[in-house]
Amino acid sequence: MQLFIEKDYSALSNKAAQIFANEIRQKPDLVIGLATGGTPKGTYKELIRMHREEGLDFSKIVSFNLDEYLGLTPDNPQSYKYYMFENLFNHINIQRENVHIPDGLVSDINSYCKKYDKEIEKYGGIDLQLLGIGVNGHIGFNEPADEIIVDTHLTDLSKDTIKANSRYFDSADQVPTKAITMGIGSIMKAKKILLLASGQAKAEIMAKLLNNNTITTKTPASLLMLHQDVTIIMDEEAASGIKNI
Ligand code: GLP
Repeated sequence: MQLFIEKDYSALSNKAAQIFANEIRQKPDLVIGLATGGTPKGTYKELIRMHREEGLDFSKIVSFNLDEYLGLTPDNPQSYKYYMFENLFNHINIQRENVHIPDGLVSDINSYCKKYDKEIEKYGGIDLQLLGIGVNGHIGFNEPADEIIVDTHLTDLSKDTIKANSRYFDSADQVPTKAITMGIGSIMKAKKILLLASGQAKAEIMAKLLNNNTITTKTPASLLMLHQDVTIIMDEEAASGIKNI
């Protein structure tokens, strides 16, 4: 595992975008796994700048998003589809047919989820997976539990997640209670994983994750310790509780 501690959010975002850009330049048809939430916004902003000013080319890039709320239409500003177009896709030259985001409106969810994993496989798997982390240690929407589902699936959101994500909605009762998420197995199959954590709100979970040399499904992100190519970028606030670094 590689750890980087950057001064602040802006430095963290630049570092993450740099890693993405290097991979894209080496492999122009890179298959990327993308995340939503507040954390990756700065990375996407920097990638857009690199596209505009440095000609970073996304024309052959294939993307798969981690998750989507169940029941939100794509024109709902809280849907992850809306977020992705607003914060990245509308501003770069990615081909619309190369973009994959779980559809939170499908009726046959089980077969849809199977197809999503198959589609990832069809492209040879994800080369570089970007992740944020929930305050409860979730990745994608894989919530703390006794057992964690391996493949892409429909999941209930935990109370902690609904509370944390209510900051993006008018009120907590507007946050959907279910979502489609790539499973831990779908994430772990990625060749390279890049996890970002920013701000004081993430200090406790990052300390829990990195101070304990243990894995548990109660902290889903801890399962990443079993992956052979994980890079974690934190800013100083998120890293403030970590010992021995
Ligand atoms: C959301 C997303 C995750 C994201 C996490 C952290 O629930 N499903 O993919 O990593 O919450 O979000 P933020 O970056 O806004 O703290």
